[in-house]
Amino acid sequence: MNKYWVVANWKLNNTYSTAEEWLRFFYDTYTPSDRISVGIAPSFTELGLVSHTVKRNADLPVQIMAQDVSRFNVGKYTGEVGAFQLLEHGVSHCIVGHSERRQYFNESNDVINEKIERLLNYDITPLIAVSEIEQVQSVCEKGFDLSRLTWAYEPISAIGTGNPADPHVVASFLKSMNHLVGEDAYILYGGSVTAETVKPYLAFEQVDGFLVGGASVKANEFIDLLHSIL
Ligand code: PGA
Repeated sequence: MNKYWVVANWKLNNTYSTAEEWLRFFYDTYTPSDRISVGIAPSFTELGLVSHTVKRNADLPVQIMAQDVSRFNVGKYTGEVGAFQLLEHGVSHCIVGHSERRQYFNESNDVINEKIERLLNYDITPLIAVSEIEQVQSVCEKGFDLSRLTWAYEPISAIGTGNPADPHVVASFLKSMNHLVGEDAYILYGGSVTAETVKPYLAFEQVDGFLVGGASVKANEFIDLLHSIL
């Protein structure tokens, strides 16, 4: 079977010093498993720290990830962070299309597709978050090489609410996604995943891992979750 891919999406949480503590605790406490690969998606301000720390601890491979990328390439775009800058930090994967970006920053399917294209141009793998099948279709219609995309299904009602989605419903959504994006595509589930809620999803082969928000902000909760997957 595939490895479970578990991504810590810190969102707008953690400072430089709490991120230092997080990483120290993680490397001191986490018992690595061949069955899990871990990604960390910090804010841009902590990306350098995460990148240096991950590279220094190369015996425990961790993916350096970003939460977002500019749809622009380079130039006069104040406040933006481009794919080439992520690449310099060793970012291998970047979340795009998160429902919080769609809701609070009015990101449309077109904007998300532009971001996917930017990332692919720099060989960074997009982790495309979707909550509706129509959002999957919009990406597929662009003709991207599907083997270069990864996905997270995150039903809005489950994100940050403490109400994880019914695993049967998730598995059946993932099956319909597989028809569009290919049987081999990596598809994570996200939405109120914790050490307490994760177990039922493990029974479904469609679930390739988890995109974790709230339960990733504190290292001990995230590690409890990782250990409970084993
Ligand atoms: P949550 O967030 O784990 O806090 O529900 C998941 C996500 O939005 O990626």
